Amino acid sequence: MPDASRQRTPVELKGRVIVTPRSKAECANEPLLEEFRCEGGPAAGEVQMIVANLLSGEALAQTVALVQEESSGELLGIASVRMDGNEQIRSRSSEPWFLRRLAVNPYVNVIARDERYRNHVLRDGRTRLGTALLRAALELVEQSAPGKPLPTVWALIRRENRASQRAFREFAFYPHDRSEESQQEVFVRRAGRPLPPAPDPEAYRPLEPGRGSGQRRAGASRG
Ligand SMILES: CC(C)(COP(=O)(O)OP(=O)(O)OC[C@H]1O[C@@H](n2cnc3c(N)ncnc32)[C@H](O)[C@@H]1OP(=O)(O)O)[C@@H](O)C(=O)NCCC(=O)NCCS
Repeated sequence: MPDASRQRTPVELKGRVIVTPRSKAECANEPLLEEFRCEGGPAAGEVQMIVANLLSGEALAQTVALVQEESSGELLGIASVRMDGNEQIRSRSSEPWFLRRLAVNPYVNVIARDERYRNHVLRDGRTRLGTALLRAALELVEQSAPGKPLPTVWALIRRENRASQRAFREFAFYPHDRSEESQQEVFVRRAGRPLPPAPDPEAYRPLEPGRGSGQRRAGASRG
């Protein structure tokens, strides 16, 4: 696998990218997650903790998208959403009120590509892997309430995490105007905004209808 870690020109993935939804319970002892590596960057510690908790079964309730290369089944990245929002923030009186109110909405818990896939684009030559991961997260939200417009979705992002902020901005997330009251940047995506068109189907296979949270069919393939 080419080391893309220090080059500016992105590396193009050879195979199509597919999205496999998993409940928290299905992530326990998941071999693909055991191989997952995210060691550099501002959020590495948090990502590692989330993955460790998913593997041990101790994670909070969340829906996870495993983003894989179709032909090899290799795990390229993960995205996870807490559909019920963030109970910890909701119940902490020290948090700013706007954030506690926002915290009832679906919360993007993590997007992370495996570090071996840093600076990669899909085989369409332009969609960044990070963009595909966030798209997968939003598809999970969409499928948690089929046929309904997307609700408000939010995330907390470290101020120094430019790569993550770039990905969220692409999907019309913007910093809340009271974001500075929070330790991390509060990114919000307004309710009712449709998702932008999916990448070329040869490059990205969106989440299939009916395969959102808790709806995984028995024997569904891991790609
Ligand atoms: C957030 C994330 C998913 C975004 O993925 P991505 O857009 O595919 O970007 P990557 O991190 O793989 O690659 C970024 C690098 O590509 C290069 N690059 C080249 N062209 C680029 C472009 N048009 N846009 C962005 N980066 C570009 C840059 O050199 C950049 O390196 P830098 O961070 O040193 O500036 C990814 O950065 C990640 O997984 N980070 C670790 C976990 C994390 O922080 N998650 C978010 C919080 S949970």
